[in-house]
Amino acid sequence: MNKLNFILLKTVRCSGWPLLPLILLFLLTGYIMDGRYGFSRVMDEKSALTFHRMLHVPLIVLVLVHSVPAVYLAMQRWGWIKHREEL
Ligand code: HEM
Repeated sequence: MNKLNFILLKTVRCSGWPLLPLILLFLLTGYIMDGRYGFSRVMDEKSALTFHRMLHVPLIVLVLVHSVPAVYLAMQRWGWIKHREEL
């Protein structure tokens, strides 16, 4: 594995873990506002909206940091794009 692919794989793995709690919080705050499934008891709607709004930017950034290199590595594996030479 060349150095770039190694760094990309580390990026995919490191960004996957913070994504997990972030996506769960995003869903939770969404369901709190929605009032479905009894989640509205966890927090009031206004605070849920504040948190939900705060989570958008980090979520979008992390999804991109996680999925763009993951897709790039997958495309190399599938042979859609050429493997780079060892550096
Ligand atoms: C919010 C959505 C997502 C979450 C919470 C998430 C979370 C994770 C976690 C926790 C891992 C394990 C990291 C490790 O092995 O240390 C992982 C690995 C991986 N994720 Fe995601 N992921 C998400 C979305 C995606 C998307 C959209 C893609 C691709 C388009 C993707 C592709 C991958 C791949 C290919 C791996 C395996 C990397 C390896 O070879 O070890 N993930 N993800």
